[in-house]
Amino acid sequence: MSRLAKFAALALSLAPVALTNPALAEEVDQNRLPPSQDPARVANGLAQTPPMGWNSWNKFACNISEKTIRDTADALVATGMKDAGYNYLVIDDCWHGERDAKGFITANAKAFPSGIKATADYVHSKGLKFGIYSDAGTKTCGGRPGSQGHEYQDAITYASWGVDYLKYDWCSTGSRNAEEAYALMSDALRSTGRDVLLSLCEWGTNRPWLWASKIGNMWRTTADITDKWSGKHGYALGMLDIVDLNEPLWAYAAPGHWNDPDMLEVGNGGMTTTEYRSHFSLWAMMASPLIAGNDVANMSADTRAILLNKDVIAVDQDKLGRQGRRIAKDGNGEVWVRTLADGKRAALLFNRGETPVKLTVNWTQLDYPAGQSLMLRDLWAHRDLGAMKGSFSAQVQPHDVVMVTLTPES
Ligand code: GLA
Repeated sequence: MSRLAKFAALALSLAPVALTNPALAEEVDQNRLPPSQDPARVANGLAQTPPMGWNSWNKFACNISEKTIRDTADALVATGMKDAGYNYLVIDDCWHGERDAKGFITANAKAFPSGIKATADYVHSKGLKFGIYSDAGTKTCGGRPGSQGHEYQDAITYASWGVDYLKYDWCSTGSRNAEEAYALMSDALRSTGRDVLLSLCEWGTNRPWLWASKIGNMWRTTADITDKWSGKHGYALGMLDIVDLNEPLWAYAAPGHWNDPDMLEVGNGGMTTTEYRSHFSLWAMMASPLIAGNDVANMSADTRAILLNKDVIAVDQDKLGRQGRRIAKDGNGEVWVRTLADGKRAALLFNRGETPVKLTVNWTQLDYPAGQSLMLRDLWAHRDLGAMKGSFSAQVQPHDVVMVTLTPES
């Protein structure tokens, strides 16, 4: 055999190996840019302000049904939540049945006898948007079928149901690469032509703030919240522990993509009204998605007053989209600042401790000249405090906040 013939024979015998050997395929893959660095990738344009809505998980977990969803849709309208901006109604885990013979996902027919499309139609008929939940692994965290290997098929199904929002979880993902997995679902959703907000829920494990700004619209930064003031509770974290993990990531939030310190627990009973007021204020200072997680159809007046505080919501939804941060800490006393559009600021005086403290914010900490005259409004007292110069001080009760906006006098 000539040398050329020998080479040709060898090449032919190796060809199938190269085509089928995953190790070699991976080597070729590694020459591709990661999805976040692909210059052709553009954001979907949604969520120019932090998303607002309601999600079933914190209150109902897997005990969900078509009736719960319809009742909540009605309540979001009747209570004024929809008008205040809570426009996405999201069904979390456990709505699923099995995949059908062709691999399409179905709903649990007992819990959703009319199906997801009819439920979504009802939600839409109330002027709300409709969201659903899946997972990048083989199973969801609640053990239902995940989307791995079915991404495009699921995206088509969701679009045909009228889904406007997908929360995409990270259980049972094995050794999957998070950036690739989320980009794949992002592309699948985009290919349907429908506007679907993508909420990444991989708990901050793979630092999505570094790669997800054009892949999704919000990314969880921590483990799950639990309805407690602080501490570690199994896998879940109390509210303050979440704040301390989310706060340092302030530079990564911007219109279109937000840090997500998880859904609100306001109204679920594990914290005091004062603590829920602090929880809500801190979420607004951090430009967090405001996804209520309570039983909206049976809210107390206290819960309602917190979730419907339009001044605090306006801070959260400020169009500049810059996340606030802690600028001073002295023992249990903290001063937080958020730069708002049109030269305004929001300031939060926050007392983590068990005794009252007097806290002060100086204009120079807000990047204003000390002599600048600023109009102050107290967002929880719902009171204009008039013009001030130099600084603002307040006595802050245990676990409480004083939250103000500051507007330069022209
Ligand atoms: C994970 C998520 C939660 C919730 C549950 C559902 O724990 O982080 O927000 O979606 O799964 O099983």
